[in-house]
Amino acid sequence: MIAFETLGNEERVRIVDLHPEIGDLCAEALEGLHRTHKALPCKYFYDALGARLFEAITELAEYYPTRTELGIMTGFVDDMANAIGPHATLVEFGSGVGLKTQKLLDALIEPSGCVLIDISKDALEASARQLAARYRQMEVVAVCADYTQPLRLPRPRRPSARTVAFFPGSTIGNFTHPEAVRFLKRVAELVGQGGGLLVGIDRKKDPTIIERAYNDPLGVTAAFNLNILRRLNEAGANFDLDAFRHHAPYVENEGRIEMRLVSTIDQRVRVGDTDIALRVGEHIVTEHSHKYDLEQFEEMARAAGFRLTKHWSDEQDWFSVCFLEVGGGLSLRERRHQIELG
Ligand code: AVI
Repeated sequence: MIAFETLGNEERVRIVDLHPEIGDLCAEALEGLHRTHKALPCKYFYDALGARLFEAITELAEYYPTRTELGIMTGFVDDMANAIGPHATLVEFGSGVGLKTQKLLDALIEPSGCVLIDISKDALEASARQLAARYRQMEVVAVCADYTQPLRLPRPRRPSARTVAFFPGSTIGNFTHPEAVRFLKRVAELVGQGGGLLVGIDRKKDPTIIERAYNDPLGVTAAFNLNILRRLNEAGANFDLDAFRHHAPYVENEGRIEMRLVSTIDQRVRVGDTDIALRVGEHIVTEHSHKYDLEQFEEMARAAGFRLTKHWSDEQDWFSVCFLEVGGGLSLRERRHQIELG
C-alpha cells in the first residue's frame, strides 16, 4: 500500500487527459439559431470574463442561491460528512475547488481521495496542485474531460469506502429535465453501487424573488448574458451588443428562469458564413435555470437509479442540498409510505 503521507504534492496528483472534444463555437451556435425558438448553449458564458461576471453575480444581494447554499453547508456539513462516512473518494465536477468543496473536505472523515473533472486542463491542474498542498493525506486525480458526456473514472490508487460526487450551485438546474436525468444516470454509473451524490437544487418559491435574482438593477446579469454574444464575435460572428437587451422571466408552467436576449430592432447577424435574421422583439434563449420542489427532484433522481435519502435546507426552504444514494437506505418517499402504513 502507498504511504500517501510521505509522498510530495507532485506525487499525490495524477493528471488524466481524456482529450475532450472542443466543439466549433459558430457551428454549435448556428444549430441553435436555426431553430424556430432561437437558443444558444449556456456553456459559452464561461470564458475568463464570463467566469468573473458570474463571480460578481454571486455577490449580488438579489442573487440568493450561492449565499443560501453556503449557509446550509456551514450549518449541516458535519451531518453531510456523517451521511457520506469515512474514507470516501469525493468527485467534483468543474475545476474550481470553491469554498463549499473545501468545507466538505474539511468535514469529511479521512477522505481517501478527490477526483476533479473539467474540460479546461490548465485550470484543472492548478486546482489539483492547490488541493494536494492543502490536504496532505489525500490522493488527487484531475481528469480532463467533458462531464456532460459519458466517461469512466480512473481508479484511485488508494482504497476507498465509497465514491461520492459533489455538484453544488444548483448547476443541475441549467440542464433541461431529460438532460438532468441523463446526467444523474451517468453520475450513478460513475459512483457505482453504494456511491452517492450531494447536489444543490434551487427550490420553487415566490416568482418575484426568483426574477429579482436574474434581473439585478446593477445590470451584472445583463452583462453576463450579453457576454455570450461578445464571445461569439471573437469566434467569427458580428452581433451588435447594443441591439439586444437582457430579460429573464420566470416561466411558471416550466418552473424555470429563461435567460433571454431580446432583439431591439429588425436585424441580420452574420455567424461564421451564415446570415441569421431577427425581428424586433424576437429573443434568443441563452440559459434555463430550473427550480424544483423536493418531490419532483426525488422523482428525477429515482428515474436515474438514485434514492434521495437525506436533504438539508435553509429556514425559508429556498434551497436544498440533497444526498442521493445508489442502493442503500430508504428514500424519503419510502419512509413517507412506511409512516402512512403505520
Ligand atoms: C451556474 N448557474 C447555476 C447559475 C444559475 O443560477 O442558473 C447561472 C446564472 N445565470 C444567471 N445568473 C446565474
